[in-house]
Amino acid sequence: MAIFYQQENRTFTLQTKQTTYQMKVDDLGFLLHLYYGSKISGNMDYLLTYYDRGFSGNPYDAGNDRTYSMDVLPQEYPTTGTGDYRSSALTIRNHDESECCDLRYAGYEIRQGKYELPGLPAVHAKMQEAETLEIILEDCVSKVQVRLLYGVLEEEDIITRSAKIINGSTGDIIVEKAASACLDFINGTYDLISFYGRHAMERNYQRTEIVHGSHVIGSRRGTSSHQYNPAVIVAGKDTTEDNGSCYGMVFVYSGNFMCEAERDQYEQTRIVMGLQSDLFHYPLMPGETLLVPETILCYSDSGFGGLSARYHHCIRDHICRGQYSAQSRPVLVNSWEAAYFDFNGKTILQLAKDAVELGIDMVVMDDGWFGKRNDDNCGLGDWQVNEEKLGSTLGELIRQINDIGVKFGIWVEPEMVSEDSDLYRAHPDWAMQIPGRKSVRGRNQLVLDFSRKEVRDHIFEQICNVLNQGNIEYIKWDMNRSIADVYSSAGSQGRVAYDYVLGVYDFLEKLTTKYPAILIEGCSGGGGRFDAGMMYYTPQIWCSDNTDALDRLRIQYGTSFFYPMSTIGAHVSAVPNHQTGRSISLRTRGIVAMTGAFGYELSLAKLSTEEKEEIKEQIRQYKKYEDLIRTGDYYRLSNPFRDAYAAWMHVSEDKRQVLLHVVMLEIHGNMTVSYVRLKGLMPDAVYEDSNSGRSYYGSALMKAGIPMPVELGESQAYQFVFRVKI
Ligand code: GLA
Repeated sequence: MAIFYQQENRTFTLQTKQTTYQMKVDDLGFLLHLYYGSKISGNMDYLLTYYDRGFSGNPYDAGNDRTYSMDVLPQEYPTTGTGDYRSSALTIRNHDESECCDLRYAGYEIRQGKYELPGLPAVHAKMQEAETLEIILEDCVSKVQVRLLYGVLEEEDIITRSAKIINGSTGDIIVEKAASACLDFINGTYDLISFYGRHAMERNYQRTEIVHGSHVIGSRRGTSSHQYNPAVIVAGKDTTEDNGSCYGMVFVYSGNFMCEAERDQYEQTRIVMGLQSDLFHYPLMPGETLLVPETILCYSDSGFGGLSARYHHCIRDHICRGQYSAQSRPVLVNSWEAAYFDFNGKTILQLAKDAVELGIDMVVMDDGWFGKRNDDNCGLGDWQVNEEKLGSTLGELIRQINDIGVKFGIWVEPEMVSEDSDLYRAHPDWAMQIPGRKSVRGRNQLVLDFSRKEVRDHIFEQICNVLNQGNIEYIKWDMNRSIADVYSSAGSQGRVAYDYVLGVYDFLEKLTTKYPAILIEGCSGGGGRFDAGMMYYTPQIWCSDNTDALDRLRIQYGTSFFYPMSTIGAHVSAVPNHQTGRSISLRTRGIVAMTGAFGYELSLAKLSTEEKEEIKEQIRQYKKYEDLIRTGDYYRLSNPFRDAYAAWMHVSEDKRQVLLHVVMLEIHGNMTVSYVRLKGLMPDAVYEDSNSGRSYYGSALMKAGIPMPVELGESQAYQFVFRVKI
C-alpha cells in the first residue's frame, strides 16, 4: 500500500520506497500541503503555523480569526481569487466574468493502478505497480470541480500529478490558467536548475537562486521548445551531483508550458508547473472537462545523480512504449548531412551499399523525397513519392536496399505545409493563419491546423499511403518551426494551442497503433521537442541539429538530467563539422555519439579506407555495449561546463560491467593529469580493466579514481571497460 488516508486528521499520505508526500484537509475544507521529502512517519500538520499577517486576507468562514490566510498557508492547488496573491495553479473566469475559484474538499477515492489521461501521454504502469489517489475539490458557488490526480509508483520513488477541471456550473466558463502541480516549501532557500538553449544548442544547465519575486520559464512557441526544456530541479543551496536534497518536476507535454518559481514575503517557496497561460483561454461549457497534462515529481536525497537515475528508470519503463522501448535500436545512417536535398534513388542505394560494408543496419532517407521538394521552400504537405527523383517507386528502392541486407527508414514532417504545395493550393484554410493578416513564416513554411480532425485525417491517409509502399521500419517525425499564428478557422481560439498538441498526440497514437513495428524517432529541428510527452510515442528523439562532438558533450550532459540514454539520438557526422566548422577526431566523435541511440550522418562514400576500418570497429564496440548503454545505470562523472574533461559511465544492473567514456576538454603545455573517479560500483569487488588487464577494487576506482593519459592533441577520447573478476 502506498496511499493512506487518516480519517481522524483528514491527512493523505503517499509513501514511496524512500519518500513521503503528505497533505491535509483542514477545518475549512482547504487542501493544504504538509510535506514532501525523505521518508518519514506521523502526522506533519504540526508544521503549520498561524499568525496575524497584515494585508494577507482571511476567508470569510475563518470568522474573526485573522491568523488564517491562504496567502501564507502551503497549498496543494492554489487558485486565483481566494486571497492568495502568489502564483496560482488555476485561474477560472466564471460565467459572470469574475475570476475566482474557491476550492474546498468534497471527497476522495483511492484505487489500485495508475490513472490514465485519455488523449494525453502519461506515466503508465502495471496494475500492481501503482496506486491512484483522486481528491475532489469543489467551488460551492460556481460548482466548478477539480479532481486532483496523484499516481504513486512506490518502487520507482515517483509521484505523478494531474488535474481534471470540470465545469459543473450552468454557464460557460473560461480556464485562463491551469497547472498540474504546485510544490510549496514553508522554509529554506533553494536553487532552480533549468535547461535553456536555442536551435542547435539545447539544454544548457543553469542554476540560479530562487529569490524574492518570480522566476518564470516556459514556451509560447507551440512546442516545448529548444529555449527551455519542460523540466526543472529545485535543490537545496548545498546540493551537488552526489549529495543533498533536490526535487524534480517533469512536465509530460509537448506544447506551451510554464514553470514559475517564487520566493514570497515570508521566505516560503512555491513552484508551479503547468500549461502556459499566454495564448490560452480554454472555454468549458457546462459538463465539459479539461485535462491538465501530468507532472512527474521525484525527490532525491542523494543529489542530482540520484534524481536522474529515478527519472531514467521512470521514463524508460513507464513513459516510453512499444516494442522499441525495450529493444536494441538499429545503427543507422541518415542522408541529411550526407546529401541534404541533393540525392536520388541511386545515392540512397549507394549509401545502403556502403552502409552494409561497415555494419550499419539502416539507411534513413531524410527530407527531399516527396512532392517537388528539392529545397526547403516548397512541397511540405504533398506526401507523394517523387518517383522521378528516386528513379523508381519507393517500394522498388526499399526492396533493393533490403535485398542487400539493410533496413529502410524515412523522414516526414506531417504538421507542416509549404505555400508552394498542392495541398496549400487546395486547402489554404488548413494552415494556421489569422484572417486579414499576413502570416509569420518560419523556414518558409506554415503550420497545419492539427486541432482539426479533417486536416489530420487527410495527412494521416497520405502518410499511410507512403508507409504501405514498402518495408519501412523507421520514421523520423520532424517539426521545423515555432507556431506564431495561433488561429483555427474552425474552432475557439483560446483552445487552439492545446488542441493542436492533442491533435499531434492523436495522430501519433493512431500511427503507433497501426504500425506497432515501426520505430519512430522524434525531432523538431533537433531537440526542440525533446520532452516526456513525445517519448510516449517516440522512444528516441534526435537530440540536436548540432552534431559537433564538443557541443554535443554539453547538450547530452544537460539532456541526461531527466532523459535516459535510450531516448537520445546521437550521430557521428563529417568534419569540418557543418554547424561549427570544428574538426574533431573520428574516435572522439564515435565515443560521444555512443552515449545514446547511435548512428551516422555523413557521406560514407567520402570516407578513406582507414576511416571505414575505424567505423567498422566503432560499430562492433557499440553493438557489444548497446544493451549496457540503453539499459544500464548512467552516471555523470564531471561537468563539461566547468571541468577539464567530460566523463560519464554506464553500469550494468548487477554492477559487474562498466563502460567509461572520457573526453579531454583541455590541453596545455606540460599538461597536468586528470583523475576520473567512478561511481556506482561494488566497493569490495575487483574490477579488471579490459584494455590494460590491471585490476582495481571498486572502492579504489570510486574514491581515488584512475589517471587519464596525457596525450597531445585536442579532445582526446578514451573508452574503458571494466568487468568484475570471477
Ligand atoms: C530538421 C532536422 C534535420 C533534418 C532537417 C530536414 O532540421 O532536425 O535533422 O531532418 O530538418 O529538413
